[in-house]
Amino acid sequence: MPEAMDSNALYNITYGLYVVGCYSDDKPAGCIVNTCFQVTSENPTLAICLNKKNYTLDCIKKNPKFCISIISEDTDPMIISSFGFRSSRDADKYADFGYVDLDGAPAVKGNFCGRLVLDVTDFIDCGTHVIVISKLKDTQDGSGAPMTYEYYHKVIKGSAPKNAPTYRSEQESTTVTKKDVRRFKCDICGYEVESETNLPDDFVCPICGFDRSHFKEI
Ligand SMILES: Cc1cc2nc3c(=O)[nH]c(=O)nc-3n(C[C@H](O)[C@H](O)[C@H](O)COP(=O)(O)O)c2cc1C
Repeated sequence: MPEAMDSNALYNITYGLYVVGCYSDDKPAGCIVNTCFQVTSENPTLAICLNKKNYTLDCIKKNPKFCISIISEDTDPMIISSFGFRSSRDADKYADFGYVDLDGAPAVKGNFCGRLVLDVTDFIDCGTHVIVISKLKDTQDGSGAPMTYEYYHKVIKGSAPKNAPTYRSEQESTTVTKKDVRRFKCDICGYEVESETNLPDDFVCPICGFDRSHFKEI
């Protein structure tokens, strides 16, 4: 982002949140994305955008099929921290939740607004990220209100890691917050909390459950 450009308008673009499920050989893998949108209505085409460093992209390139689980306000936030802040290269993200196979793609168990099963048709290189174009093969209805990106930031107080296309650096995000309050950030899931005093020793991250030692003042 050029220094002179004010990035605030970018953060008024709205998004939802989704779990992408795919297979790494016979093991389930996947990650959180906020970048999912419907491209065409007839014979529906959808797109997601994946960072080239994310293992999910490697898996989808090898096995071009995936499931989108549409996150609702009732979805367990631990699913977001498990799928959004760790890599399937070194963690079994499904261990605590389980999954079902939907037409050849893994769908993490939990409360979701719905599921979409997609076959990949194209990859568009965008430098750091790749847009994955896919055709809708099947759907499954769910329940609850879709979680918006704004709800995730304002109510759950979550953040996005560096690999998310909408990642906002600390310098950018602190320009909109009060200066007289101390802010602490969880180095596991990125959850941020404000406090006028130091955080107590028994403070536990409400998103990922890790203890006070993982909070650094920012
Ligand atoms: C709120 C949120 C939104 C995210 N959006 C995206 C996204 O749109 N695209 C992407 O590639 N990564 C996104 N991420 C980051 C990935 O989920 C994260 O890098 C994950 O650890 C990748 O795991 P993997 O290496 O197993 O694929 C997002 C994470 C969060 C928490």
